[in-house]
Amino acid sequence: MASLSLGPLKLEGQYLLAPMEAVSDVGFRSLCSSLGASFTFTEMVRGASFARQNKSTLDLVDTYEQGPVGVQLLTKSPDELKKVIEMFFKLRETTEYAHYRNVKAFDLNFGCPNPDLIKIGIGPAMVKRTAKMEALFKTLATTTRAHDDSIAVGAKIRLGLNAREKEYKVAYRLAPVANEHLDFFTVHAKHAGQRGREPADWNALKELRDVVTTKLIGNGGALDAASARAMRQETRVDGVLIARGAIRNPWIFRALSERGAELPSVAEVEAAWKQYRETAQLHGTRQKYLDFHDENFQRMRTALNAAQSADGTGAARKK
Ligand SMILES: Cc1cc2nc3c(=O)[nH]c(=O)nc-3n(C[C@H](O)[C@H](O)[C@H](O)COP(=O)(O)O)c2cc1C
Repeated sequence: MASLSLGPLKLEGQYLLAPMEAVSDVGFRSLCSSLGASFTFTEMVRGASFARQNKSTLDLVDTYEQGPVGVQLLTKSPDELKKVIEMFFKLRETTEYAHYRNVKAFDLNFGCPNPDLIKIGIGPAMVKRTAKMEALFKTLATTTRAHDDSIAVGAKIRLGLNAREKEYKVAYRLAPVANEHLDFFTVHAKHAGQRGREPADWNALKELRDVVTTKLIGNGGALDAASARAMRQETRVDGVLIARGAIRNPWIFRALSERGAELPSVAEVEAAWKQYRETAQLHGTRQKYLDFHDENFQRMRTALNAAQSADGTGAARKK
């Protein structure tokens, strides 16, 4: 399996689990890591709430697992970012937040299309503001490295706020500043007005490949193992970040890491489900995550059972 270095971090494999709000909790990340995801991210953590030490925000950094994990942060202010990172390092020295010591990367989120965030100038609204973005990248890198130079730093962007910004390639202006300050630069190959079903523009990833010299992680439309491999081959990105494909089928990472089949058996789904619940209960994961994953595992089991009944092999493959 090929490795991937993100600054100080060496990963085994080039396929990473995306940050997903209300999805990427410790149990789900641990499952994806165990199946072969080379890296995982927490869901986005709002910098302003973290800086206020809002307890439920601090608890979103539920990094109890062994697999390599990064924290995704959402902020628009370099001062706030500095405060968040400094507080993070202070908290990780305490017993209550000792699990923060497992964090191997920080990632800034400039991709969230939530209109409430865009209205106040956060997320994809910032992509065109090269100087502001540079200030954030620089603050992230210098503050983190001053405390712990084994932590990688990166950012995740979209191709601008709307079709016009995409057309004007505002995101491309960030390549030199990303190259200078970041260990990895993740590009979700859509603008913020584009929704799930619209195709990602892998051609933009190809073009960015020519100007991004830090590690380029491609994102958008890698929905199964074949399309994830195709994204790497067609665009030459260093790594591929997978979101919906992992919700649909976490075993995508087993196939991509060449450890086994892409589709699990019913017994494997049931074992993973049990393991997920045990991890969630051990770490006090909030009920909304359990509800989401219960429904998701249920859906996978029903689909596999239906497929097995249809091809008449159900009894054998249940084992
Ligand atoms: C349920 C859900 C929650 C998401 N939450 C986040 C998030 O917290 N931070 C982020 O940067 N992107 C978030 N995203 C976007 C994904 O990380 C990813 O960029 C997007 O789904 C495209 O990748 P895909 O085509 O592999 O799904 C979320 C996506 C989904 C489906």
